[in-house]
Order: sequence, then structure tokens, then C-alpha cells
Amino acid sequence: MAKIVSFINQKGGVGKTTTAVSVAAALSNNSYRVLLIDLDAQCNAGTSLGISNAAVNTYSVFKGDPIKVVQVNENLFMLPSSLNVSTLDLELVNEPGKEQLLVEILAPIQDHFDFILLDCSPNLGLISINALVVSNYYIIPLLPHHLSIQGISKLLEVVDKVRRRINNKIELGGIVLCQYGERKVLHQDTSEVIKSHFGDKLFSTVIRENISLAEAPSVGKSIFEYAPKSNGAVDYMNLTQEILQKLK
Ligand SMILES: Nc1ncnc2c1ncn2[C@@H]1O[C@H](COP(=O)(O)OP(=O)(O)OP(=O)(O)O)[C@@H](O)[C@H]1O
Ligand SMILES: [Mg+2]
Repeated sequence: MAKIVSFINQKGGVGKTTTAVSVAAALSNNSYRVLLIDLDAQCNAGTSLGISNAAVNTYSVFKGDPIKVVQVNENLFMLPSSLNVSTLDLELVNEPGKEQLLVEILAPIQDHFDFILLDCSPNLGLISINALVVSNYYIIPLLPHHLSIQGISKLLEVVDKVRRRINNKIELGGIVLCQYGERKVLHQDTSEVIKSHFGDKLFSTVIRENISLAEAPSVGKSIFEYAPKSNGAVDYMNLTQEILQKLK
């Protein structure tokens, strides 16, 4: 049965998609069978892997289509998103069991994969709640600024409600600092503050600022194909090893 992992933070532009896509690629390169699901109407995860306009997509499966995934390479599969996802919260407002829809959607295919990774949108609406309800773990990508830390408390509050009311198995997989500048004192300070609060839940791998990570999506390739020797590729390979050790 697949381990299901949400990459979630209601703050925008923190590295959720880059991390979900890169970890999915790294796991698949390590022979794990991986399904990456794009839950965001911006469709960035799909675009990052060169996939768009699939007839069966996140919107259509939430509306009742049986799930059908796109094969990216030998071990990597994807359910792309659609712009319509932005209106799903409203369309599903009267749907019975609306917070459990993703549980039902993934049930038939959960045994086909080692990992199912969920790239969440920058809000804590119904689709993000669905992600938390079906997940074994959630990973928080975070920018190393003081304001980012304040945002985490809202996310932790929501996860706590989900844990108490619907999904008592969800665990914090870890917090990963993204776009880290090694010489920036502010980043080092923030890292210390987070470490003092979250201890070993802060991944020891940080993802350094790396231009190749920003360029790779524009050619629809993972960082490992686009720039295999870049700091971005090295950091995401190390993060993936840590994830494999911690998410047992
Ligand atoms: N380590 C990095 N170094 C340089 N650029 C990065 C790095 N990580 C991500 N980026 C770039 O920063 C931007 C935001 O990253 P990303 O799209 O992964 O964030 P996100 O949290 O998914 O955003 P959103 O909330 O809009 O979905 C993108 O343009 C991405 O290419
Ligand atoms: Mg994103």
C-alpha cells in the first residue's frame, strides 16, 4: 500500500511544487513506483513535467470520473490538474462526505504505488483538507524568513483538527527549508529558531537557492534530467534519502 504524502503550506511560492516534483523524480529514479497528483488549479506540477490538458484530471476525478494516470517515465506517473479546480470548493459545497473524496478516488490504485505525493495549492480549502484526510504524512516546505514561521501555526491548527476528527494517522513528515542562502545570516537565524521548535522534524538537508531549479519547469524536465550536477539536484537527492529514512 502506498505511503501518501502531502506537500503543503498555505503560503504561496515557498517550494511546494518544486519539492513534490523533485522528490517524485528522485524516488522514481530509485526504482520506487510513484504517483504525483497536482491538486492546484495553477497546474504547475503538470507543467513542470511537460504534461497538460489530460481528459482525466484532478477536477474530473473529484467530479466522479474513475482515476486514470499519465505515465511520465518507467516508474513515475501523474494525475495532472485543470484550471477548473479553482471552483471545486464551491461546486462540492453540498456533496456528502466532501472531505473524504480523495480517499475514495485513490482507493482503487493505492496498491499500485510505493508513494503517492500530493502537490497542494496555497490555501487550506476543501481540496487541501482532502489531501490531509488521505495522507499518512505531510511535509512543509518553508522559506527561511521569520514571517513564514508565523504561517505554520495556522497550518498546524488545521492539521490538528483533521487528526482529531477524521484522520488520526497523519504525521508531520518534516519541515524543509527551501531557497536557502548559505551566506544569509537571516536564513541561519531562522533555521535555528525552527530547529529549537521542531527538533529533528526539521530536515537537516536544506534546499539551496539554485537557478537550475527555477529553469527546469520551463522545459518540462525534472532537475535530474535538466541539470543533474546542480546544487538543486544534489539537495533534492539528499532530501529524498532523508525522507526514505524518516517516513517508515
Ligand atoms: N531552491 C530554489 N532556488 C531557486 N528558485 C526556486 C527554488 N525553489 C523554487 N524556486 C522557484 O520559486 C518559485 C516558487 O516555487 P514553487 O512553485 O515550487 O512554490 P509553490 O509553493 O509550489 O508555489 P504556489 O504556492 O504558487 O503553488 C518557482 O518559480 C520556482 O521555480
Ligand atoms: Mg505550487
